[in-house]
This record gives sequence, C-alpha cells and structure tokens, in this order.
Amino acid sequence: MVIIGSGPLPISLIMMCHQYGVRGIGIEQETERAELSRKVLEKLGLSDQIRIITGNHSILPLKDAAELIMVAAQAEPKQEIFDYLAEALPTSTKLSYRIYEKGLRRLLDTFFHYDLPESFEEYLRIRPEPPVNNTVVFVIKKT
Ligand SMILES: C[S@@+](CC[C@H](N)C(=O)[O-])C[C@H]1O[C@@H](n2cnc3c(N)ncnc32)[C@H](O)[C@@H]1O
Repeated sequence: MVIIGSGPLPISLIMMCHQYGVRGIGIEQETERAELSRKVLEKLGLSDQIRIITGNHSILPLKDAAELIMVAAQAEPKQEIFDYLAEALPTSTKLSYRIYEKGLRRLLDTFFHYDLPESFEEYLRIRPEPPVNNTVVFVIKKT
C-alpha cells in the first residue's frame, strides 16, 4: 500500500505492516520528515518492508502497482490531489481517505468543501467507534 503524506512517524504504515504483513511506500513532501521517518523505520527493523519516497502525489502512479493508495487526513491541497489522481491513476485503482464527521476535529476537516471527481466510486465507508473518531472512505477508480 501507498500513503500520500506519511509524515515523520508513518504510524499507519507501521501498523499495517506489523498487523497484516503488507509492504508499504510512504510519500512525504518534506525532506526532513521523510529522512526522520526512514530513521524510525530503520530502528524498528522495517526498512525492508516500508520505503519512503520524498515527493508528493504527483509522482503517482509508481511502477509497482499498489493494492491501495491512502490519502492522509492532513495531505493537501485535497482538490488538487484528487483531481490529479482521477486523471493519472489506472482504472480499478483503490483509494482510501479519512474524514472527521464528528467531534472538534471536524472543524479542521477540509473534505466538507469538496466533491470527489465522478470517476471515483465509493464502495465502503467505515464509521468510527470509540476511541476512534475518523471515518474511513474507500473508493475505486471507474473506467
Ligand atoms: C501528520 S502526517 C500524517 C501521518 C499519518 N496520519 C499516519 O498516521 O501515518 C501528514 C504529512 O503529510 C505531508 N503532506 C501533506 N500534503 C502532502 C502531499 N500532497 N504529498 C505528500 N506529503 C504531503 C505533510 O508534510 C505531513 O508531514
């Protein structure tokens, strides 16, 4: 799986790799954060499973096809990212993103201002149960 906006501590990738043994790629636009996350992964012995690329969404699609591309809640600008991915990703690519529909974090959620491109079809929405407070939305790129 690939995460756009993996940050200095790519905890989602670490958890996915630890729990499910998947291989991951994090894309992080800030050079220092990308470097810090590589050090964290090395200390955890996960450098073989998780690779960090310095860059942003525009480097997608990668040569290796991803089973799932996750867009981090803080990845921005949302409109540019999703409009770009709608054009650039091959048909049937699966994508997920997080939104905050309740609680104070909702005030910072940028998804409320934006409609996804029509080429993305939602196929699953997992609503949160305490202590989680974010909804995860899964979409697939149509032809
Ligand atoms: C706080 S981290 C997210 C960590 C993630 N939530 C996790 O659990 O693993 C968000 C990161 O996204 C990065 N970012 C924001 N927009 C981006 C983009 N378009 N492409 C790549 N990185 C981006 C920011 O630089 C920031 O380091």
